[in-house]
Amino acid sequence: MQIDENLKVHTEMWKLSSHVVGLEASIIREILKISSKPGVINFAGGLPAPELFPIKNLPKCMADVVTNFGPKAFQYSLSMGVVELREEIAKRATALGTPTTKENILITSGAQQAIELIARAFIEPGDFILTENPTYLGALQAFNYYQARYTSAEMDNEGMIIDQVEQKIKEHNPKLIYTVSNFQNPTGITMSLKRREQLVELAIKYDIPIIDDNPYGDIRFEGKHLPTLKSIGGDEVIALRTFSKIISPGMRIGWMNSPVDILQHFEKVKQCTDLHSGTFVQYLIYEFLSQGMLEPHLKTVCVDYKRKRDVMLESMRKYFPKGVTWTEPQGGLCLWVELPKHLSAKELLPKAIELEVAYVYGQPFFPSGEGENTLRLNYCNAAPDKIEEGIKRLGQLFAESI
Ligand SMILES: Cc1ncc(COP(=O)(O)O)c(C=O)c1O
Repeated sequence: MQIDENLKVHTEMWKLSSHVVGLEASIIREILKISSKPGVINFAGGLPAPELFPIKNLPKCMADVVTNFGPKAFQYSLSMGVVELREEIAKRATALGTPTTKENILITSGAQQAIELIARAFIEPGDFILTENPTYLGALQAFNYYQARYTSAEMDNEGMIIDQVEQKIKEHNPKLIYTVSNFQNPTGITMSLKRREQLVELAIKYDIPIIDDNPYGDIRFEGKHLPTLKSIGGDEVIALRTFSKIISPGMRIGWMNSPVDILQHFEKVKQCTDLHSGTFVQYLIYEFLSQGMLEPHLKTVCVDYKRKRDVMLESMRKYFPKGVTWTEPQGGLCLWVELPKHLSAKELLPKAIELEVAYVYGQPFFPSGEGENTLRLNYCNAAPDKIEEGIKRLGQLFAESI
């Protein structure tokens, strides 16, 4: 961000907290600013496709909120979230194999707020959190604010390597295990059933809560849904979910599915943060769910994202030079590319932007800063012809650089 020289005076004179001064801006947000220029083919953000937002159905739902709830929809409401939405969420979770009641559900302003509430509730400076390597950058940002430290397990095609998890637990006694078990951001990797069971066993053995951040689980367009960590681990797991990727991120509504006794602490932390999430939007989502609009909408989303993923994979096979490898996710929004070790995806990014194509380089997703040669591509946001063109340009850039 360009800072006005006059404003800089305040930054120097006023005593901001050391937490804030030490914070780094999200690299993705910075790249998005550069890449949102017209004409740039944007594989950078984690943005869902805007043409898929259910704009057609929402006016009816909005009118129904006003008719059915009147002034209540515009009033302050419970920190836990509006009862109708929590009941609807609990019903869906139960139907999908995780017995849940509304008492387990706390509505948050996106999954990002749930991560922040967890950090506030659990983390003292210097505490360890066990993560995948790489992991979701937004979680690192939230945890960094509370001066967490990290111990990370490498991943293969089945998710976290479990032997490493146990070894890291023994070495660092982490307070939390944080995972993105389905179509992980950034790699697109999904944890296998066996690994899920093993991870839960370890969590029970060492009494460490698993935080399963799961924004993409509903967006499976190939293969079979796996039992969630929550359905396997029950009260050992706090599941974080969101409507951002399946309805709209601008609505900022997510939720936690947590053991009841611990949820009361999150409720207090939520009260300090923002009292409650927007009442009207919660009712709006309630109408959308209770009128049976989510499941058909999800089908549309899955068909579209599969088609775009297929175009990206086919284009990569066609245009990427030998020595470049990538993941092939069966759902979610993004995939992961590894360049030959001697190349830096960060150094290549300005050249890619000159060619009017943007990606996010992978290094910031690694708690200890490796992964110079990696990058993340979002296949959902650009139109199929643009995806092919963008991959072609990247292929040329990589081939020239090798
Ligand atoms: C793994 C993960 N967690 C949390 C979030 C934040 O989601 P929300 O928009 O619900 O805050 C994202 C967004 O990209 C994500 O990928």
